[in-house]
Amino acid sequence: MARRKLIAGNWKMNGHFDHLRELHGIEKAAKANPQVDVAICPPATLIAPAVARVPGLAIGAQDCHPADNGAHTGCLSAAMLKEAGAPHVIVGHSERRTDQGETDEQVRGKAEAARRHGLVAIVCVGETAAERDAGKAETVVTSQIVGSVLGDAKADWLVVAYEPVWAIGTGRVPTLDDVAAMHAVIRAKLADMIGDEADDVRILYGGSMNGDNAADLLAVANVDGGLVGGASLSADKFVPIIEAGAALA
Ligand code: PGA
Repeated sequence: MARRKLIAGNWKMNGHFDHLRELHGIEKAAKANPQVDVAICPPATLIAPAVARVPGLAIGAQDCHPADNGAHTGCLSAAMLKEAGAPHVIVGHSERRTDQGETDEQVRGKAEAARRHGLVAIVCVGETAAERDAGKAETVVTSQIVGSVLGDAKADWLVVAYEPVWAIGTGRVPTLDDVAAMHAVIRAKLADMIGDEADDVRILYGGSMNGDNAADLLAVANVDGGLVGGASLSADKFVPIIEAGAALA
């Protein structure tokens, strides 16, 4: 089955209410390029207002708690995000693995919560610069996949994002050969875990993707879209990435 490309923006802890105006241009581009899927994941406070403002654009979330409710001050459950209108949730982003010390097991629990509530889980993996320099990139990413992905995962609710930590927000990107090699490793590991279903799971690349490099990155084998941080904050920067994906579809 051909995998539809997914171009997902991650606003991280950026954007106030007035920033939602950027979504109009992004919604327009999403509608003009229906051969790709487009999503923006703003801060959780903006999900419901964004959904109201641009009903034609998928508005995702950046994290969820593994539990459905309970004594977890400051956290949000997948059910709450779903109710706010989010069809997707990013889990296990490297910034959360680092800042909040999230483990693979917790990330897997979050992905399971997303599945329970009908959200698509975008599970992030990626090695640090030190791990790559030590020749351990593939081992690290493989072990994150094994630890973070559920053994009964299905392509309709699991998306994997490969985001080398050293490429996030730095303007540095891996060579296209390195991207191809890692995405092939991820696809093979998924096949070990979930069999033929792995053919349909989308594997996004993330880390300093922009309008200049998107066409090349998105054309690499097994790259089924992008998870875009900085360049998703404005329609001017994000729309060319959507168009690059659409041109390849
Ligand atoms: P970046 O972030 O595009 O700003 O490098 C990507 C991400 O962290 O998802």
